[in-house]
Amino acid sequence: METISQEHRNLGRALCIITGASKGYGRTLTLQLSCLLKSRSVLILVARTADQLNKVKEDIMALNKGHKKLFVRCVQADLEKTDGVQKTIRAAKETSSSKMDHVLLINNAASLGDVSRLASSFTDPAEVNRYLSLNVSCVLSLTAGVLQAFPHRAGLQRTVVNITSLCALKALPSWVLYCTGKAARDMMFRVLAEEEPDVRVLSYAPGPLDTDMQVQARCFSGDLKIRQSFSSMFSEGALLSCEESGAKLMKLLLDNEYQSGAHIDFYEL
Ligand SMILES: NC(=O)c1ccc[n+]([C@@H]2O[C@H](COP(=O)([O-])OP(=O)(O)OC[C@H]3O[C@@H](n4cnc5c(N)ncnc54)[C@H](OP(=O)(O)O)[C@@H]3O)[C@@H](O)[C@H]2O)c1
Repeated sequence: METISQEHRNLGRALCIITGASKGYGRTLTLQLSCLLKSRSVLILVARTADQLNKVKEDIMALNKGHKKLFVRCVQADLEKTDGVQKTIRAAKETSSSKMDHVLLINNAASLGDVSRLASSFTDPAEVNRYLSLNVSCVLSLTAGVLQAFPHRAGLQRTVVNITSLCALKALPSWVLYCTGKAARDMMFRVLAEEEPDVRVLSYAPGPLDTDMQVQARCFSGDLKIRQSFSSMFSEGALLSCEESGAKLMKLLLDNEYQSGAHIDFYEL
């Protein structure tokens, strides 16, 4: 059961945009969020794989059937590209209503990048730029576009979540792209929090999750110690379920007491 009980608290009548909603952590967050929204809320699910997005949409409908009316729109978009960002913003604008009392953007989509090589092998700036495009540049552009599309107004809460990682703070050998991207994202959202005091900004590190990204980490990490440590986490059952980690994020959002711009880790809570 992927619902979570939060004592009937809710996130209001919201427009929620969740990137990377097709699988893994994003899928779970989407289902958990759907249970915390008031009737006539809107969920915009973004990823490249349309059939998986449609399946998540069906799961949301089944989970909330008979409780409330939710509008779910799947947006097939590549968030490495400008077109993908613009398509997402357009869909959010078209689908929203002026009666929303919360706009919530969850920047969850990301890639691990090539973790098989050391930093000294990245001689091609085009390869690095491609990585940063999805994981940094387009995250800023999407966030900026959403904030512009839904400007400050009385009675409207605006929340931006950055799904981050311990790697934003800790250097892992052979993970130069991922660590760099997550560190840059954290700083981006810290600056945003300074500039926009009325926007609630949170960087949440979900802990090690049992997803496809984790499989890549334990199979392909070039640094032997790192590869072994991810393999042991898996074999010793130390990985977290997406549900357990997502439940803590839902509580943070409902409590709404975090300092805007903060980096909060699953293990701190
Ligand atoms: N797994 C972990 O242990 C762990 C730990 C700490 C932090 N995190 C963070 O948690 C978040 C979710 O990770 P995960 O483990 O769920 O990863 P995942 O299983 O690899 O899922 C990634 C999601 O991002 C989407 N995505 C990837 N490239 C995209 C693109 N170019 N355009 C649009 N969407 C794209 C994927 O959908 P499509 O392929 O359909 O596009 C998918 O829905 C990430 O930010 C990750 O860095 C994960």
